[in-house]
Amino acid sequence: MREIRVAILGATGLVGQKILEVLQDRNTPVANMVPLATEGQGRSIRFRDQSIAVESVEDMNWNRVDVAFFAASSEASAFHAPRATAAGVTVVDKSSHFRMDPEVPLVVPEVNADAIGDSKLIASPNCSTIQMVVALNPIRVHYGLKRVLVSTYQAVSGTGREAMTTLRQESLAMLDGRPVTPSTYSQPIGFNVLAYCDKFGDLDFTGEEWKLTRETRKIFSQAIAVSATAVRVPVYVGHAESVYIETETPFTIAEIRELLRRSPSVKVVDDPGQGMVPTPLQAQDQDLVLVGRIRQDPFEPHGLHLFVVADNLRKGAATNAVQIIESLSDRF
Ligand SMILES: NC(=O)c1ccc[n+]([C@@H]2O[C@H](COP(=O)([O-])OP(=O)(O)OC[C@H]3O[C@@H](n4cnc5c(N)ncnc54)[C@H](OP(=O)(O)O)[C@@H]3O)[C@@H](O)[C@H]2O)c1
Repeated sequence: MREIRVAILGATGLVGQKILEVLQDRNTPVANMVPLATEGQGRSIRFRDQSIAVESVEDMNWNRVDVAFFAASSEASAFHAPRATAAGVTVVDKSSHFRMDPEVPLVVPEVNADAIGDSKLIASPNCSTIQMVVALNPIRVHYGLKRVLVSTYQAVSGTGREAMTTLRQESLAMLDGRPVTPSTYSQPIGFNVLAYCDKFGDLDFTGEEWKLTRETRKIFSQAIAVSATAVRVPVYVGHAESVYIETETPFTIAEIRELLRRSPSVKVVDDPGQGMVPTPLQAQDQDLVLVGRIRQDPFEPHGLHLFVVADNLRKGAATNAVQIIESLSDRF
């Protein structure tokens, strides 16, 4: 891959900052970096020991870059992505705006990089979907998948930077015995568990839960029955998921462990006797999806239980977006 000129829309946000970090860590050949946000406001970001001034996206001439990572809002993606792609820019969009558009590939490179074709606009899935499909894909390929039931335990960073401040402030207030007025969420998140991560929608499932269903089906190109309960927990970074699946054909637990061990983006952390189970703190700042608690269901011979954890800001967002560009090395 030749050196590419890169823009990040939302460069001051949690995901934008992680994209800068991941590009550095993976030595992606970047010739020039243009950080964008609503306004420059005299702000700057750091990239490879350089301080670079943030620019207003409204003034952006998209001919200046080859690749743009969009990590702002759905509204910003809807408005600016067509302008960028019309200028020949390859856009990887982290927002949910284009994910279910049949014309736009929704990509997790380990699973469906070939869906990109010659598309200039590529959507990156929701964080909770990415880690689940990375863990399930090798099992799906070998044994087929009939059914997925998933309960998530999602970190507040999935909501953005402001939610991390809320968790800190509410927790400190509670430790001091001061009253808490909920702000980011409708109930306090400090020392609490909220059985919803999004607005309620069809059949009383939330938007986040429908994302897990619809995005998984699009990525696997298969109408698998996926039902989710998405839960917010007082964790800064790292989403956890308790996943139950039913396969088409029989498996043994030894085979599943071996299959997951051989998957390049998965790390098996499964020694419960030694207290070794995947946790959000272990997953933090890693690009791997941690999988543990691998168990056969006691009542369903084709039933398998897994506990899946990943850093929602890295593999769930930034790393997946950068891997999409790496998979297009022939294009650049
Ligand atoms: N957090 C996660 O785990 C995660 C995972 C997957 C996907 N995502 C998605 O990634 C996107 C960014 O999330 P985040 O957590 O990084 O949010 P965040 O921390 O709140 O940051 C948002 C960034 O977008 C910029 N921005 C917002 N509205 C804009 C607009 N209209 N025009 C230009 N820039 C705008 C902000 O700049 P200003 O300061 O100038 O407003 C800021 O740089 C969202 O679409 C989110 O759904 C997040």
